[in-house]
Amino acid sequence: MKEKLVNDTTEAFQAFFHSDPENIFLAPGRINIIGEHVDYSDGFVLPAAIDKYICFAVKKVEDSETCTFFAKDFDDSFSFNINQKQNPVSQIWVNYLLGVFNAVQESGKKTGGLQIAFSSTIPMGSGLSSSAALECGFAFILNQIFDLNLSRKDLALIGQKSEHTFVGVQCGIMDQFASVFGKEHQVIMLDCHSLEHQYFEANLEGYSLVLFDSCVKHTHLTSGYNNRRKDVDQGKRILWETFPEIEKFRDFSFSMLDAVRSEIGETSYKRCRYLLKEIKRVEKAAKALSEGDVEYLGKLLTETHSGLSTEFEVSCGELDFLVEKTVKENGVLGARIMGGGFGGCSINLIKDENVNEVIEKISAAYKAGFGIEMKVYRVKISDGIKEYKRNEFVI
Ligand code: GLA
Repeated sequence: MKEKLVNDTTEAFQAFFHSDPENIFLAPGRINIIGEHVDYSDGFVLPAAIDKYICFAVKKVEDSETCTFFAKDFDDSFSFNINQKQNPVSQIWVNYLLGVFNAVQESGKKTGGLQIAFSSTIPMGSGLSSSAALECGFAFILNQIFDLNLSRKDLALIGQKSEHTFVGVQCGIMDQFASVFGKEHQVIMLDCHSLEHQYFEANLEGYSLVLFDSCVKHTHLTSGYNNRRKDVDQGKRILWETFPEIEKFRDFSFSMLDAVRSEIGETSYKRCRYLLKEIKRVEKAAKALSEGDVEYLGKLLTETHSGLSTEFEVSCGELDFLVEKTVKENGVLGARIMGGGFGGCSINLIKDENVNEVIEKISAAYKAGFGIEMKVYRVKISDGIKEYKRNEFVI
């Protein structure tokens, strides 16, 4: 599958630019085991990069001031002058890239002319972070081709900045971090306050993490994502005014939150309460994962779904249906909506021997309930963004 993506992207480059690319890069999507919406609230998250990628075929053009992209999947292209100041444009996919370029330009780093064709196996609008892969993939390419000396952390932050400034989504850092820092077979425990992180062996022998794509597409530009952030920010503002000695959001206690309940209002209260509970769940989940306590991990996933659905209110009828039905099946330890919400995928922890049967039953129930063919992704935990070298794969 990876080989096919690389070949297709290379061919797209050749057809569009009438020459061969010099470098190939792969930027992965991500799953998140647990820790949803807490990345912009000093929480912990447990994401991992997966074997679904955006592939970039790249050629440096000496003495050129132009950077040209060909987006194979949209059959669309865009060029800009690297010496001019960039502003957002009407093609949404372009803004992810221009935002990255702008952030690099603002940091005073010098780049040059490029030709890039890209194509993806990360389904868009499914909660698997194709946007972070696009942003961070381009940041990685600029860094590598022009020796910009940016750290991996810088690349993740540049990706996030692009989303804030050129795309208009006030996202946290989880997706970009996972795409850049992913490691095969390892889950990342990221402290979103300090950006310190540890890797965990994903100790799930005998169990699988399977994604069910509801095929309800979303973009956080128009979903309620930014509004959820506003709800939370209002709560945080009053919490910090009342308890200025607290440094990190996760250190507020439930009784502190209760003390400001009437002042922050019911909506912000509900959102902040979910966040404090979710941050604690992630710590428990990391422990359960490292001890191989898969039963408990599953229970925590399902609790997260309930919080996301009723307190944070980012689920939808289709995802609630999928999760409710899935957790009732034999061999299912837990299930929840994954990512920013408002559509996309559920992540399901299922005993290996039951996976096929669960998929069959849930697909049929979903079809009957909503008339939609559910898609299923059995993903592997993979490395973060890297240059693809053909001979690495030759035995
Ligand atoms: C989206 C955002 C992330 C994070 C998740 C929810 O994927 O890009 O920063 O907030 O939603 O956990």
